[in-house]
Amino acid sequence: MTSRPPLAAEQLRSHRWFGVRDLRSFGHRSRAKQIGFGEQDYEGKPVIAIVNTWSEINPCHTHFRERAEDVKRGVWQAGGFPLEIPAMSLSEPFQKPTTMLYRNLLAMEVEELLRSYPVDGAVLMGGCDKTTPGLIMGATSMGLPGIFLPAGPMLSGRWRGAVLGSGTDVWKYWARKRAGDLGDDDWSEIEDGIARSPGHCMTMGTASTMTAAAEALGLTLPGASSIPAAFSGHPRMAAATGRRIVEMVWSDLRPSALLTRAAFENAITVVMALGGSTNSIIHLIAMAGRAGIDITLEDFDAASRKVPVLADVRPSGRHLMDDFYDAGGLPALMAELGDLLDGTVLTANGHTLADNIAGATAHDGEVIRSRDRAVFEEGSLAVLRGSLAPDGCVIKASAASPHLMKHSGAAVVFDGYDDLDARIDADDLDVDENSVLVLRGTGPVGGPGMPEWGMLPIPRRLLERGVTDMVRISDARMSGTSYGTCVLHVAPESFVGGPLALIRDGDVIDLDVAGRRLDVRLEPEELERRRAEWRPPAPHYTRGYGSVFAERITQADKGCDFDFLAGSGAPEPAIH
Ligand code: FES
Repeated sequence: MTSRPPLAAEQLRSHRWFGVRDLRSFGHRSRAKQIGFGEQDYEGKPVIAIVNTWSEINPCHTHFRERAEDVKRGVWQAGGFPLEIPAMSLSEPFQKPTTMLYRNLLAMEVEELLRSYPVDGAVLMGGCDKTTPGLIMGATSMGLPGIFLPAGPMLSGRWRGAVLGSGTDVWKYWARKRAGDLGDDDWSEIEDGIARSPGHCMTMGTASTMTAAAEALGLTLPGASSIPAAFSGHPRMAAATGRRIVEMVWSDLRPSALLTRAAFENAITVVMALGGSTNSIIHLIAMAGRAGIDITLEDFDAASRKVPVLADVRPSGRHLMDDFYDAGGLPALMAELGDLLDGTVLTANGHTLADNIAGATAHDGEVIRSRDRAVFEEGSLAVLRGSLAPDGCVIKASAASPHLMKHSGAAVVFDGYDDLDARIDADDLDVDENSVLVLRGTGPVGGPGMPEWGMLPIPRRLLERGVTDMVRISDARMSGTSYGTCVLHVAPESFVGGPLALIRDGDVIDLDVAGRRLDVRLEPEELERRRAEWRPPAPHYTRGYGSVFAERITQADKGCDFDFLAGSGAPEPAIH
């Protein structure tokens, strides 16, 4: 347990609102009474903000209304005063052009909610893709004791006896439908069966990857991230999280004590062992930036060279998250990683990571592999550089085709999604299975928001001939549930003049994953000549949030945070 001396009630941050006896506290206390809370409810107690990203339009958080009540139960039990404070919900399926456009807005909202209200500690309720990094980035910058409550994965899908995984099987069956071997009725039945309970995507997509990363960082209770949303263990975990945050406040256990460089290295190791989402690279760099820690693409590549993929979960493997939970969940996987993790780091329950995973074992060696039976010997995410990506790009090698890991082909270039959509299936598109599909104008500024368009569709003509994968390159992201030989996050992006902007149809592109290279066979003089001709596109936004986003967003290799949000701290509000 932590050895910090417990705080006195007068040292609580909320004491400034409720404890002092002046005109302002009269207002706070009388208004608390207006809500229905008397002094017995809050006097001398830590005020716990339950930052809830529930929304009727977010299917992954459908259960969060009830879960907030479970958290409150725990907070009351431990002698705290819970207050549910909603924050914007980033609903991956519905929010356009992409939730990534709003991750930083959620982070700003969370930071300022916690700063401006009488809060001593926070439970952060998230799970759907960008909600996890958004909540953690904001809470880290504010710096109050905080604990993350993961939404948990939904139950696996079913269709005529087949197991369906979120996203992954959508792409698979959509390709079959486009190739003509799946009918409308089949497609409709798949629509009925693929999302059958509350919870986030149950493949190893961005949600499962990021909630696991939060647990590896020490920001959840042990094992919390793997519990399916519909299981009875989930509300019990929620209540335990509520109890624990009260203790964290009394012992003043803040993110700065948990979010060390070693903790981030553990999270990177876990992402690799999970065969996790490429999106986690961007998010973890941004989250580390809030904690004042410089994590770079090279940290990911170094981990990828030494960490085996142990989770046999789609899209890199075969199983789904409820199988992963039944097999022992993240504690079992982390126990299997052994000396690849730093077990000395402190976690939210006040114990070290090593204490938390002591005795954890995998109950099903097919789902959580031992290190001598890894799904892949090396980590799944490789970082590439070269003349086409001077500041780096990434590929999820574990979900790509081995025969395309070293490939050269002629570029077929698309300028944005509309162009792609209009021409990809055209009969006169000059493309074959050796071509390299290039999509540009889809980065952080160009997208805008770097949408998940990086898994470009295979041209129908090639699909019908049985081609299932090709080399695809973009400055976009890709859903963590996607697969294929997709080179992503090319930096700098084309919209701001990165080399991708200069590529033309027919230019030969060389991909060499083992050599960590992505190059175009053009002389530097030719690239310079084209650069002199290049004109920046007109901005998407001339006002509002979008214009701030475009002006202040950093590139993918820097985490796509706003440049003015790195780090933490700001003056405490005056209570007048
Ligand atoms: Fe919410 Fe996938 S849609 S996690």
